[in-house]
Amino acid sequence: MAALEAADNLDSLEDARVRFLGRKADLAALLRSIAELPPEEKKVVGRFGNLIKKELEALHAQRHSALEESELVHGLEKERIDITLPGRGLPLGHLHLITQTQREIEDIFGGLGYEVVEGPEVETDFYNFTALNTPEDHPARSLHDTFFVTKDVLLRTHTSPVQVRTMEKQRPPVYVIVPGKSYRRDSDATHTPMFHQVEGLVVDHGITLADLKGTLEQFAKAMFGEVRRIRLRPHFFPFTEPSVEVDVSCMICDGAGCRLCKRSGWLEILGAGMVDPNVFEFVGYDPEEYTGFAFGMGIERIAMLKHGIVDLRLFYENDLRFVRQF
Ligand code: PHE
Repeated sequence: MAALEAADNLDSLEDARVRFLGRKADLAALLRSIAELPPEEKKVVGRFGNLIKKELEALHAQRHSALEESELVHGLEKERIDITLPGRGLPLGHLHLITQTQREIEDIFGGLGYEVVEGPEVETDFYNFTALNTPEDHPARSLHDTFFVTKDVLLRTHTSPVQVRTMEKQRPPVYVIVPGKSYRRDSDATHTPMFHQVEGLVVDHGITLADLKGTLEQFAKAMFGEVRRIRLRPHFFPFTEPSVEVDVSCMICDGAGCRLCKRSGWLEILGAGMVDPNVFEFVGYDPEEYTGFAFGMGIERIAMLKHGIVDLRLFYENDLRFVRQF
């Protein structure tokens, strides 16, 4: 009994049990020997022997549950989870800057009542060039500038073919923008073989160059700040006439001239123009009844100007140190 009482953990209790209650213990030997004792001793030894065994077993059971309980409490105490410790945050992703910029552009034109439409990236020569009034010998049609799949199938070099697809499907008025990927055989700090554009197309009664200018000025202010101005410079595109390139006043120097705008005070943001009547002929719109304007801008370029990014390739290297900044 003293040994069972003295055991202060389950291991030493087990040692005591084996020693006094086990098969090789004196008590077990005594109980086994009863059979050989003379009858009058059998009774006494048997009765007291079993009484002792029962008492020791009862004490053992009691000590066992007490020690088990205290070891459990002790263990819980030791391994306690500190729920007041702040958790380890899971990194939360976010939209890539190109997607963010695309959605921003969509929101601006959405607010002006434009609808977003999309078209295929694998295009036919017809939609990408012919129906956009692009002559056979135009440099963009060369193997050097365009990824051809077959002679007549190619990766679209701009989002303009969706102008044609849209006009084929619906009658004016048309107010759409077309975000999407475009492909050109170009690769340097300001060109990647795949890039994103947003096309715009408006066709309605009485649309003029003034509408184009007002719309794009609205866009430039919403995108780059209320104080921005735009200017139109004459340019050439086969599918618009007249055609313009549109500049926005430099957001760094506000027109005074700095490194970003190469001392000119202006930054080119997009190409645009009045839809060429030849394009209307291809889709069966009457150029005597309707006029329209179109524009196309590079999403990467808009994002670069807005965020001061100098190398286009950063968008596609997926270096998280870059991506996480936006
Ligand atoms: N598609 C032209 C380009 O990729 C941009 C543009 C679109 C110009 C619409 C005029 C009108 O350069």
